Amino acid sequence: MKADGNRITVLTSYDYPLTRIMDGCGVDIILVGDSVGVVVAGHETTLPVTMEEMIYHTRAVVRAQPRALVVADLPFLSYQVSPHEAVANAGRLIKEGGAEAVKLEGGSAVAETIARIAAVDIPVMGHVGLTPQSVHRMGGHKVQGRRRGSAPGQRERLIEDALAVEAAGAFAIVLEGIPEDLAAELTEQLTIPTIGIGAGTDCSGQVLVLYDLLGLVPRAPKFSKNFLAGTDGIEAAVRAYVAAVKDGSFPAAEHAF
Ligand code: KIV
Repeated sequence: MKADGNRITVLTSYDYPLTRIMDGCGVDIILVGDSVGVVVAGHETTLPVTMEEMIYHTRAVVRAQPRALVVADLPFLSYQVSPHEAVANAGRLIKEGGAEAVKLEGGSAVAETIARIAAVDIPVMGHVGLTPQSVHRMGGHKVQGRRRGSAPGQRERLIEDALAVEAAGAFAIVLEGIPEDLAAELTEQLTIPTIGIGAGTDCSGQVLVLYDLLGLVPRAPKFSKNFLAGTDGIEAAVRAYVAAVKDGSFPAAEHAF
């Protein structure tokens, strides 16, 4: 799809009925995100989310038998302690949850872990930039790699991180909360598709948190858009999102950093 210029549409889902709706709208990838901890359970961050919760939500999504690829997030501390634990937990999301791929956050520091998971034939999606599981290191949910205001060398480190994720064997990479020129540069340099969220217009695809798209969160992030407003229901909102990503009208300049 990257080679064809066919933008990849990704949405988060955490349950059976909404997965059925969004799958009927032709979403390419369904991400069972650990954002579930924030948008569904009401936590401040994704850090409290457990493996058991991720397996529960992944199972609910998979019961809808989606045509879309189902990717499930490895939650905080399920893959950081050792590559051995990471492989076991990735395996649980596949074997018990029914996911077809897993996602984890980080760059060079998790390259070996990505390689070890990929070596047992579990496809891995990477995630660099604003990585919510690193909220305390980042001092908040802050855009990473800005030319001004970022720590020296942060842009260069982000490029090294993305290249390390690709070299380790990831099949795609989420770029979250980075300036759009950096996302464009990474999309050009990498062979694998980049999936942007708050990363401008030039990524190979886009991901949004479903509850942001439906306007169900108290404060919508700048990079998001309420697709429910002006439509007559959830299905129409998801269709509008898919169409806007495919035709390049979302994200627009106002959603970028
Ligand atoms: O958990 C999640 O929803 C995510 C997306 C924001 C990419 O990781």
